[in-house]
Amino acid sequence: MTNNFTFTIIKPGAVAHEHIGEILTMITRAGFWISAMKYLKLNEEQARYFYSIHQGKPFFEDLIRFMTSGPIVVAILEKEDAVEEYRKLIGNTDPAKAEPGTIRKLFAESIQRNAVHGSDSNENAVKEANFFFSLSERFTKAGKFPI
Ligand code: CMP
Repeated sequence: MTNNFTFTIIKPGAVAHEHIGEILTMITRAGFWISAMKYLKLNEEQARYFYSIHQGKPFFEDLIRFMTSGPIVVAILEKEDAVEEYRKLIGNTDPAKAEPGTIRKLFAESIQRNAVHGSDSNENAVKEANFFFSLSERFTKAGKFPI
């Protein structure tokens, strides 16, 4: 079962501007169950590993600087078709192209400081969730194990 959860980060900009509560409210009102959640600060090595798929791109070094600039919230979100459903809720990577009412339209400052991350595939949701959480730190809504 890999299509029933996704992974998200509330990024340093949204945390600094005190949007954690509003974003989590939007997430739960949209029907996602928070299976796991942590508040932490990435170090450079962790950020480079997490975003290694973007290594070499022009924005990579700035992205690493930004993602290590302050605390973040990381979470596993449970819902049917979670990856696709969450991408709809957060909107386009570029807030200028994000649909009205999406998390990025409401809270992103720029394409880089775009408020939240959401997994782009089931495979990456599994990898990203496993990077931050052990199986014993995850709780499905139905109390099933593991997610
Ligand atoms: P995220 O969903 O976390 O995945 C990769 C991140 O890189 C993305 O959100 C943005 O924060 C950043 N990013 C992607 N494209 C660009 C770009 N063209 N310029 C600057 N940052 C970008």
